[in-house]
Amino acid sequence: MNEIDPKYFRQVMGQVPTCVTVVTAMVDDAPIAMVIGSFVSVSLDPPLAGFFCTNDSYSWEQLKKADTLGVNVLGEHQIDVSNACMRDLGERFDGLDWEMADGAPRIADTTAWMTLTEHQIIPAGDHEFGLYNVMTMSVPDEAKPPVIFYGGAYRDLSELDA
Ligand SMILES: Cc1cc2nc3c(=O)[nH]c(=O)nc-3n(C[C@H](O)[C@H](O)[C@H](O)COP(=O)(O)O)c2cc1C
Repeated sequence: MNEIDPKYFRQVMGQVPTCVTVVTAMVDDAPIAMVIGSFVSVSLDPPLAGFFCTNDSYSWEQLKKADTLGVNVLGEHQIDVSNACMRDLGERFDGLDWEMADGAPRIADTTAWMTLTEHQIIPAGDHEFGLYNVMTMSVPDEAKPPVIFYGGAYRDLSELDA
């Protein structure tokens, strides 16, 4: 049934641009961060949003324990934040400017910020889809353009102006 080569799957899907978010939570007094590009708006009424997580992620196991998740949508000036959150688990918040807000770790200076509570966790192949209620959301008064992940690299929208 499945004739799709995994490498080719990755290559083709690499042509689909995504956002770059850091999904965060405080679990047992330790801040958790996971870089997520699959974050998506799902429903307006009720307000729902979600993302896909690989089944073998320790961070995802931790995030599922939390009452509240934070979604930090990264700006084009925050590639270093994404790289920081790809470090070893205990080091991801080292040097980051963050604080607790609305029940979850909020990273400073992002494009957008939301908090979520669990609605439903849905099996999705070798991933799960975490479907969440949107509890709070905000953007800065002056919009901060997002960083985009495309073709295996971080991009900013201003590249498109050329
Ligand atoms: C730009 C970018 C987007 C990513 N998007 C996802 C995603 O949507 N789902 C996912 O499971 N992993 C995604 N990852 C990979 C995870 O962030 C990374 O594998 C994870 O933090 C490692 O799991 P661990 O924290 O359990 O060690 C992404 C990584 C990058 C750099």
